Amino acid sequence: MSASPASTPAPRRWVGTSWKMTKTRAEGAAWARALAAAAAERGGEAAWAGVQPFVVPPATALSQVAEALDAPGTRRVLVGAQDAHWEDSGAWTGELSVPQLADAGAQLVELGHSERREHFAETDERVALKVSAVLRHGLLPLVCVGETAQQRAAGRSADVVLTQARAALDAAGGQRCVLAYEPVWAIGEGGREARPEEVAPVVDALAGLVRERGGDPARHPVLYGGSVTVQGAPGVLAVPGVDGLFVGRTAWRAEGFTALLDLAAG
Ligand code: PGA
Repeated sequence: MSASPASTPAPRRWVGTSWKMTKTRAEGAAWARALAAAAAERGGEAAWAGVQPFVVPPATALSQVAEALDAPGTRRVLVGAQDAHWEDSGAWTGELSVPQLADAGAQLVELGHSERREHFAETDERVALKVSAVLRHGLLPLVCVGETAQQRAAGRSADVVLTQARAALDAAGGQRCVLAYEPVWAIGEGGREARPEEVAPVVDALAGLVRERGGDPARHPVLYGGSVTVQGAPGVLAVPGVDGLFVGRTAWRAEGFTALLDLAAG
């Protein structure tokens, strides 16, 4: 890892994983302990300098994961929830509010993942309400945006993604909001990792949106997600405007996550 002169802060890259509907509490804690052990091998507090790691477990494992990460080098790993309701409490059976998730240890909330948009009728309007709720309680929203294969084939990738991002950024009103460009066709078992040349124009459009609104790019990092692999990650990280990775399957084993952190820090 090359040291940066004190006057030029190291570029801050983000590397995170959502576990979706996988892992028990014990499995989650074991993953976190393995990450802490990897951090210890890399100098503890000094591990992965310049990278902001985050992990988004199922809500059932949030507090165990947060506790297991309370170790040198992993204490600064942000812990997140996969969704949240926009109200603080009330008669919303099956839902979890931002204050409840914060109470369980969440510092970040993922919103608008395509699986939620597709299977749970998540709309831009709801994502916007949720962004406001997350920010109202001082947590960090991470909003996923992405086009389907059909929309890409019709040349509508940037349009679709900008509409989704605009809703989120309007709700954020200049406050911090991480964006993750996750093409629907790239996500999960049937997906394929997007090529850097497929990612570049969309990320450029997102960066343009942030600039056009006078937003501070540092407050709106743009991550890429969708079938990220250790082999493909360097190519995506090299795309101008890509500030990090949001990863599913590759990072469900702590070794995969560690390999991506090493790459991002390198
Ligand atoms: P994947 O998931 O890396 O397993 O494709 C990515 C995501 O859904 O964010």
